[in-house]
Amino acid sequence: MTTAIEQTLETYGIENWGAGYFDVNRKGNLIVRPAEGDTRSADLKEIIDDLARRGIGAPVLLRFPQLVAAQVRKLQRAFSRSIREFEYQGAHMCVYPMKVNQQRSLVEEYLREGSRYDFGLEAGSKAELYAAMALEQTPDSLLVLNGFKDEEFIELAFAGARCGKRVVIVIEKLSELDHVLNIADRNEGGANPILGMRVKLYSKGSGRWEKSGGEAAKFGLTTTEMLEVIRRLEKADRIDMLKLLHFHIGSQLTDIKRIKNAMKEAARVYAKVYQMKVPVDLLDVGGGMAVDYDGSKTAFESSANYSAQEFANDVIYTIKQVCDDENVPHPTIIQESGRFLSAYHALLITNVQDEIETVVEDITPIEIDDDDPQVVTELGDLRASITVKNYREYYHDALEHREELFTLFNLGLVSLEDRAKGEVLFWDVCERADKYAQQAKYVSEEFDDLRRLLCAKYLTNFSVFRSVPDHWALDQLFPIVPIHYLNKPPTEYATLCDITCDSDGVVDKFVDLHDVKQVLELHSLIPGETYYLAFLLVGAYQEVMGNNHNLFGTPHEAHIYIDDEGYLIKKVIRGTTVGEATERARYEKSLLHDGFRRLINQRVKDGELTEAEGAELAQFYESRYDAYTYLASHSERLTDLWLRSENPRHRSILRRPLGRFRWIAIARLLVCSKKWRAQASVVANSRRPIVSGSTCSATTPPLSLPAQGL
Ligand SMILES: Cc1ncc(COP(=O)(O)O)c(C=O)c1O
Repeated sequence: MTTAIEQTLETYGIENWGAGYFDVNRKGNLIVRPAEGDTRSADLKEIIDDLARRGIGAPVLLRFPQLVAAQVRKLQRAFSRSIREFEYQGAHMCVYPMKVNQQRSLVEEYLREGSRYDFGLEAGSKAELYAAMALEQTPDSLLVLNGFKDEEFIELAFAGARCGKRVVIVIEKLSELDHVLNIADRNEGGANPILGMRVKLYSKGSGRWEKSGGEAAKFGLTTTEMLEVIRRLEKADRIDMLKLLHFHIGSQLTDIKRIKNAMKEAARVYAKVYQMKVPVDLLDVGGGMAVDYDGSKTAFESSANYSAQEFANDVIYTIKQVCDDENVPHPTIIQESGRFLSAYHALLITNVQDEIETVVEDITPIEIDDDDPQVVTELGDLRASITVKNYREYYHDALEHREELFTLFNLGLVSLEDRAKGEVLFWDVCERADKYAQQAKYVSEEFDDLRRLLCAKYLTNFSVFRSVPDHWALDQLFPIVPIHYLNKPPTEYATLCDITCDSDGVVDKFVDLHDVKQVLELHSLIPGETYYLAFLLVGAYQEVMGNNHNLFGTPHEAHIYIDDEGYLIKKVIRGTTVGEATERARYEKSLLHDGFRRLINQRVKDGELTEAEGAELAQFYESRYDAYTYLASHSERLTDLWLRSENPRHRSILRRPLGRFRWIAIARLLVCSKKWRAQASVVANSRRPIVSGSTCSATTPPLSLPAQGL
């Protein structure tokens, strides 16, 4: 391995947060491994190029289901090791909380691997329960139901129990118990669900979701309410249904000490309830096992100061100690880990579209002459004589002169040309000051701020609100790494701007081992070459929390399996189209198409458009229903154009598997087809929409790729 690659691994911290799944190959491309220590790998740049050739452009969400299976094994191994080490008498089971990411491929892969250990599911709503009820689980695994429940929800739970599922209704409110008792009376003879109680602990978690625990938490029964549930169940002669105690003190628990405290309290409550002759034997410790997004292994919000093994050890050891002390049997421990199981498996890859210029660039060289106002001359002097010894003082002087420049301009004493000259000189001084400041041993805060101001702003083809909403909402950090050029040192400092019309749509905080980076080291953009970035560890919560800001829809998705030969693209699912995105906001297709045609008809009537032009415009508009909501690259536009071609030969060639012959055929068509060349040149030269009737037929069916393997 070259030193440049070692340097890259350090710059992006890949070994710190990668958990053994991510690495860089000799070509300088980011790779994914199916499990820690596995020698097989998939090259992300190769995958993205392959997808692009199939007409699937960035942004694309890549799913690696094998990483879900690897995390399941990691979790199970950690707990079984602790159980053995501490001679714990109970078992450990997991129920995956569907709210973390309900995607079927993920849940199915989890159940496939988890079935070896009787891992089950957790649902928090009627819709999640509805989906979970039809999924195959092992007979001993649990289906735990949290969240607020109405009568309908509870009826569905009873239906699940009657069909043989081990359903657990966790009582969050006393009114839920009333529904349970009524329905149980009606269910005479049928199998009943298990009951659980969610306990409000005094102990709190740590990190951003601290408020999920503690006395003021939204969820859980107070001690009095718990006793009331027991009393009512005893009175109804149904105490045998109550088998589980549950608590959850928050997601992404960063500090192991807080976890131990909560376990102590929960185990004590469990023991006391058991001693009241309630037949509890399941202790559900909730979720919260953290993901070390920045790799710092600290109690920082995007990290955790413990490993999976330490977590398991502390849970098992603490519960065992309390139970032994109280002389009660060790319960089966249920864990609701979501983030830990799902975060690693998904990553978003997208392209940097362009660089946004924010500081004034010196387009023409500035010459200072005698007629210039004094403020401009002084800025010119600062620029000429700034050095490594005086940069701090000169930078402060430049700030003052800039203030003066704007004051004089507002008073009408400085012309627009002089203001422009002054601005260019000011930013020149800043750039030089920044260069000198970065050479110093300690960079002061003001020069850190300056660096942020001066850094490149990369316009990146994605929506923060759709793909990494927790960065926007909670300042959560996600590792971001170029997927190629990693054998070359980055030369730029940059922040990322998304393509939404929102100034919050930026990523300006990045993972770092010791701190939070305000800028990310990236490569400079090369004209004509696509620069791709990966947003990693986005498999938990991001997809479900992502929103429709600006009607940017779900990105394309590809499911990748890693085998001995490299990768296999198992499935491709097209992202939301423009038409689907607008329909979600209740703009039905016919309403829009009719509306646009009405406008055209009026223009034709007024003699502003010919009938043929009107027809072309309508066809063009209607064909856009199937366009991707994100920015299309040049080559994607060409592919799109060709795929829409009326010529069935063109279309069938593009749909065939990629191979030498397909490329030869494409090349031949490119050379032979006059029509194609004419269309291609329209795309290449046009800034306006293409309205050629032959390329954008309204009757052309949408690209037939949804939800199918390629
Ligand atoms: C009741 C419950 N269980 C489990 C989870 C999953 O937590 P995590 O994804 O941190 O494991 C949550 C999320 O906050 C939750 O509210």
